[in-house]
Amino acid sequence: VAIPGGNGGKLAFDPIAPVPASVDDVVVPHGYQWRPIIRWGDPLFSEDDAFDPQNQTAEKQARQFGYNNDYLDIIAEPNGKRGVLVANFEYTNESIMFPPELDAAERSRIAMAAHGFGVVEVARSKKGQPWSYVVGAPRNRRITLDTPFTFTGPAAGSDLLKTVEDSTGTTVRGTLNNCAGGTTPWGTVLSGEENFNGYFRNPGETPAERRYGLNANGDGRGWRTVDPRFDGVANPGYRNEPNRFGWIVEIDPEDPTSTPVKHTALGRFKHEGANISISKSGHAVAYQGDDERFDYLYKFVSKDRFDGSNNPAASAHNKTLLTAGTLYVAQFSGDSPAGEIDGTGTVPSDGQFDGTGRWVPLVIDGMSQVPGFSAAEVLVNTRLAADAVGATKLDRPEDVEPNPRTGRVYVACTNNTDRGVPGRKEGATEVNPRNRNRDGHIIEITENGNDAAATTFGWSILILAGDPATNPSTYFAGFPADKVSPISCPDNLAFDSNGNLWISTDGQPGTIGLCDGLFKVPLEGAERGRVQQFLSVPRDGETCGPLIHDQDGSVFVAVQHPGEDGSWAAQRSYFPDYVTPGTLADGNWGGPRPSVVQVWKP
Ligand code: FEO
Ligand code: CA
Ligand code: CA
Ligand code: CA
Repeated sequence: VAIPGGNGGKLAFDPIAPVPASVDDVVVPHGYQWRPIIRWGDPLFSEDDAFDPQNQTAEKQARQFGYNNDYLDIIAEPNGKRGVLVANFEYTNESIMFPPELDAAERSRIAMAAHGFGVVEVARSKKGQPWSYVVGAPRNRRITLDTPFTFTGPAAGSDLLKTVEDSTGTTVRGTLNNCAGGTTPWGTVLSGEENFNGYFRNPGETPAERRYGLNANGDGRGWRTVDPRFDGVANPGYRNEPNRFGWIVEIDPEDPTSTPVKHTALGRFKHEGANISISKSGHAVAYQGDDERFDYLYKFVSKDRFDGSNNPAASAHNKTLLTAGTLYVAQFSGDSPAGEIDGTGTVPSDGQFDGTGRWVPLVIDGMSQVPGFSAAEVLVNTRLAADAVGATKLDRPEDVEPNPRTGRVYVACTNNTDRGVPGRKEGATEVNPRNRNRDGHIIEITENGNDAAATTFGWSILILAGDPATNPSTYFAGFPADKVSPISCPDNLAFDSNGNLWISTDGQPGTIGLCDGLFKVPLEGAERGRVQQFLSVPRDGETCGPLIHDQDGSVFVAVQHPGEDGSWAAQRSYFPDYVTPGTLADGNWGGPRPSVVQVWKP
């Protein structure tokens, strides 16, 4: 059932009806159109590298747009006619990407080249028109598993980062499993290295190795056959290689010759991403989630202040902000009678799931605050340090984003079906009020004094997600549940220029039988909590990005893993070209290509 009326601006829309999980299409509101800007395999530097999925090579892939785009930004120049598109490539779906006869070693090398980042210039005739990408533009760049990165911060050079390949512990080849991210006020892009453990074979014997999910059978991708650093069992000199992943990376999309960095001061975990606020005192504050069941929310406050001047010295200074400062982890307390938090999601008698919290320091300016841990140990094995100080376990905190209009911070807890299950870590708490939390929730944080550098905060739950038609435990900030779009598994967050929250989802097909989508939620006034679906993505796909350029009349999403449950011979998605299967000979290909999509009203 469509709900009338979006509000305001150039992105007024009538919400789309829920889209069944079998639909292999991008569904947009009435009056809107969509088209891909760039797809997996599109050449960045020369048409000579044109996509040919039956004859793919690692060399070509390293010169093409990568696979499974996730974080997305388009940074436009003031005239609005030129810009740079930045996307990261989280992982590969090798069973649908490659013909089965492809040599296994080459398959691994291509997959490695399909990870990382892509930077590509985009152009258009005028504002409001759709963008096209420019082959061979000066800023175009690919970052892969072979691109050198430099470590910054207190753990750089520590023994924990040393391997037989890097006796200094200061450099590392490449980045992997880059998930969400954020563009900084100084124009660089941050991205989180997330499920790095799944790439490595490792003894998995120490408490830290186990806490990060490393084990002797953990490298399902088999990359060790082409690069020994992925096998810390057969090659003990590489046992620390996994310590060199799980960081926030920073790249400068304006300078294709710059060396990207990994910031040890922000800690190491399964980083979803990082997003920056500038505090009242001018310090850079990075909010970060660790996406695992029962893991934590962190923030980093820089030692130095942001310099907003528009000159090269300020730019160079700002790029050092994430190298030194204080790393905190969040502790939440609820204020409702404990007996009322019974795991059903029923709103307690004080009217809200809410309370207060504090930011517990783990490292202050290179000095450990955790007894028994050196600063390097806190930063490399951050989960163990956070365990030791009694941080609050959350239901898979994914994207964490400050609202640029209000300063309030939003935390997407995507789900946690282990909460309250006997033998698992814990049952419902006020900040995670549902046992077997299948559909996830969103927490709203107000820093004390509305200052991002504060050490205490207030919080409340904005949304308990789900399909209200079948799930009595949904909650939409008090807005009538029968007047919202069903939503499940919130993951990536964004804001429009009016401060409305936009939520993209990852997991709706498995929970509420609907394709994943993108939803708008007003946060102020009578509409607060009114979830309205803007689009849905194709079968098996996840809605990443998202990017809301409402003043320009456009929304962008990175469509990730469309058709991922298929195979080369039996594809489940043909997005975005919808080439009829079996017409490979004419240079087309009947299979899905993860792509960046623009949605606009012509
Ligand atoms: Fe890559 Fe937590 O999603
Ligand atoms: Ca309460
Ligand atoms: Ca995500
Ligand atoms: Ca996710």
